[in-house]
Amino acid sequence: GAVKDRVAWNMVRDAEDSGRISSSQKLVEPTSGNTGLALAMVSNAKGYALTTPLSNQIPLEKRTVLRLAGVDVVELEDSLCPAPGAPEGAIAKANEIANQPEFEMLNQYANGSNPEAHYRTTGPEVWHQTAGLVTHFVAGLGTCGTINGSGRFLKEQNPDVAIIGVYPPAGHDVPGVRSLEQLSQTEFFTPDEYDGLTEVGNELAFEMCQRINQEESLTAGPSSGMALAGALAAIPDEPGNVAVVIFPDSIFKYSSSVLNNVAGLGAAPPSGTKREQLLDSMIENTRANPDLVMDVDAAHNFWNEEQPLVIDVREPDAHSQRHIPGSINMPLDELPVLAEFLPEKRDAPLLSVCERGNLSLSGVLFLKSLGYQNVRSITGGTEAWDEQGFTIASN
Ligand SMILES: Cc1ncc(COP(=O)(O)O)c(C=O)c1O
Repeated sequence: GAVKDRVAWNMVRDAEDSGRISSSQKLVEPTSGNTGLALAMVSNAKGYALTTPLSNQIPLEKRTVLRLAGVDVVELEDSLCPAPGAPEGAIAKANEIANQPEFEMLNQYANGSNPEAHYRTTGPEVWHQTAGLVTHFVAGLGTCGTINGSGRFLKEQNPDVAIIGVYPPAGHDVPGVRSLEQLSQTEFFTPDEYDGLTEVGNELAFEMCQRINQEESLTAGPSSGMALAGALAAIPDEPGNVAVVIFPDSIFKYSSSVLNNVAGLGAAPPSGTKREQLLDSMIENTRANPDLVMDVDAAHNFWNEEQPLVIDVREPDAHSQRHIPGSINMPLDELPVLAEFLPEKRDAPLLSVCERGNLSLSGVLFLKSLGYQNVRSITGGTEAWDEQGFTIASN
């Protein structure tokens, strides 16, 4: 479980006690995952059905575990943390679903039972486990339920306990927490009541997460790394200071976030802009699509039988050194301007070729986008053609 389990339990219990929900209720909740999973556990135990609209940026692990728990997961194009103002986002979708009479949204962003859960549990636990010696309480900021509820309890015991909130910058990749801009949309974000507010960058959050796991053998997740880095930055290392930092969740649901943010752990993280990543995936799809590629033997037969126009998309130097006889040189970068020299008939047979069959995949995609129906990329390219002993030409 995660820190949200106590919130989910408290929200459902209060909703039952007040008569807001009753048996066979359908619940809907916009969530970055942990509240959803916690609500799933409570819902399964109590017989409620749960729908969670959430961002497709949320780690795959969380979306999968929710589905495994029987939740109806509605994936949306949204930022990592649901943004209340985004018309297509998780919160808007949840509101839309909640308008149906059979649905109820407990809404962790505005439901007092969220901070109340921490007032009833987290705050007292911290106070008792430190024997009242706690001097600083530090929490990462998501809905701000943790900091509000625990902070209120601790201040009531000792007004000198410093309450410190930690948040990531805009564009961060730390699941569960919100940037300042995103926080302004959360009802429980009350910075005037905090004694400190610290920003921790994405890189430092993941670096600290790695250190917690490696150096302390504590399997804590990225928002724990962020909170600890904030605590170390904000609290002086002085005798008498007893700082408590909340680690909201373990590392296990965050492998894909970690892979994207910590180098050297496995598959290379996707690079480039979203548009470049889209193009990369289209190229890889092309490579695996038998309708768009041909091995060199099949290409040779096709060349003999149908006399296709061979379009060589390499730079002129490479083309003049060795090429398939009769091929025309149209470097990939210049394809858009040279397109007017392509055959008029869209059913004309074409082959796209380069040195080894990589650039020619983009060539095929470009030609397909112009409507050419009979076009393939030669797998292995000119090199494989040459190695097979097929006729080759040079200038
Ligand atoms: C992993 C993780 N870290 C931090 C938080 C922030 O906690 P809170 O919403 O109480 O501010 C959450 C909340 O969803 C979370 O799931």
